[in-house]
Amino acid sequence: MSVPPRSLVPRLSALLLAGAWLATDAAAQDAGGGAVVAADTGAAVAAVPTYYGAVQDALRRNCAGCHRPNAPDLGGMTAPMSLMTYQDARRYASRIADVVNSGYMPPWGADAQHVGVFKDERYLSDEDEQALVAWAEGGAPMGDPAEAPAAADRPLAVAEPVEAPDGSMWWMGVPDLVVGFKEPIVVCEAVEDWQPQVRLHVPDGALTEPKWIRGMEIRPGSNIVHHTVSSHLGVGVPGRGPFVFPKGWGILLTEDPFITISMHYHKETGPGTEVVDDTKGGFAFYEDGEVIDYVVETDIQAFTDFTIPAGHPNYEVRNQTHFEEDIYLLSMGPHAHFRGKAVKIELERPDRPFRETLLWVPDYDFNWQFQYELEEPYLIPAGSTMHVTWWYDNSADNPFNPDPTVDVSYGPATTDEMMNARIYYAKAEPRGIVVGQDIPEDILTISRQGEERARRVASEWEVDSPACPVPGVASR
Ligand code: HEC
Repeated sequence: MSVPPRSLVPRLSALLLAGAWLATDAAAQDAGGGAVVAADTGAAVAAVPTYYGAVQDALRRNCAGCHRPNAPDLGGMTAPMSLMTYQDARRYASRIADVVNSGYMPPWGADAQHVGVFKDERYLSDEDEQALVAWAEGGAPMGDPAEAPAAADRPLAVAEPVEAPDGSMWWMGVPDLVVGFKEPIVVCEAVEDWQPQVRLHVPDGALTEPKWIRGMEIRPGSNIVHHTVSSHLGVGVPGRGPFVFPKGWGILLTEDPFITISMHYHKETGPGTEVVDDTKGGFAFYEDGEVIDYVVETDIQAFTDFTIPAGHPNYEVRNQTHFEEDIYLLSMGPHAHFRGKAVKIELERPDRPFRETLLWVPDYDFNWQFQYELEEPYLIPAGSTMHVTWWYDNSADNPFNPDPTVDVSYGPATTDEMMNARIYYAKAEPRGIVVGQDIPEDILTISRQGEERARRVASEWEVDSPACPVPGVASR
């Protein structure tokens, strides 16, 4: 596990505002590196790149989607400073070289070797990396604004959040439905780590018939939300933005859903540390007349039967899922806790003699979690097996390890471990369901049964206004 420079050891902080990535553009990608001067011999010698020569453009394409002025804080992890002007960038030049060299920035876990293309892939090209580092090490020269590649003159194509009538801010656009706690949750002074399971209510009269979900987003209501897992809204973790399905993909929301969210709060304890959290969830729906071909399903592929011995530097845990029908894979979100070191998801197909790599995260970082979404859903033929392999570092060499002297098993607290890889997928056979017309009985039945089951199970838990836990007693 590579260790970021000391001051960068990531804070336990909440959802990174996302959806704000720079739209990269092929022409801009090609736009050049440093200034090159021709020597007498005719050989080209690379000079120190300048800000206007190469660095501005590299920062805009790779960094400024997050590092920009007024990057709005939606209660999550925001980039601490803008890198949009020469003055800004020069001030942080040596930090930029550090984080680029260590691979800490831009944040991204997946190795480039994998099937397909991920949405918002954040790979830094060798040219950009060299330009940033050589510029910083060469004294961060400004160069001549006239040198700036034309690409840098184009406005930044970053998404801006929009404000809903109730004042809440959303990356995916104003939601058609906002769900929330019955009342804001008080996370009292004594709490350091707390994971209550809470209900998200649909406002009275806001949902009178089943709707097809096109997109969903979790809006953390304070900066102590470390991550969330919701029955209907998916995961909310640092690095994760809204989840908007490809056109024609959707999930049915029944008229009376039982929506829960497992909050994970993490903060300092002591006087003055009480926080009131009012996290919300938003849904965007398809409109009448649109067609749903792919009904989205999800499988967390959890495996719970393992114990990582104390001190073990590279403990391997495997799990597999078999597919009986053709499916389209939409996204993968592997999840472990502090001992998680690396994860690989491979596909063994009946028509290929080798395993394909669907995802390889060689240096997993608990503080930056990604749901890797494929730009084009990937066809997995019937008879295939998905192999998930996690590696754990329970040794003292793992700087995130809370205690290398104990064996660790599966459990919900961050100091326990997890082993999963949530996938979103759909059956490959198109359904041709017209929104606003009859919903196929099989889908309606499955959805309603799911809600009933959730309601039954949840009745055993405290799901509204949970009280702060007694210190030292895990709530759930
Ligand atoms: C996805 C959003 C995102 C992108 C893209 C991104 N950053 Fe960051 N950056 C962050 C966040 C969030 C932090 C704060 C992380 C932390 O506190 O550990 C950060 C921290 C930093 C820091 C550390 C500041 C300090 O404390 O010294 C530097 C330097 C930095 N980024 C540079 C870059 C550079 C250079 C790029 C492009 C190559 C980049 N970042 C791309 C989100 C981003």
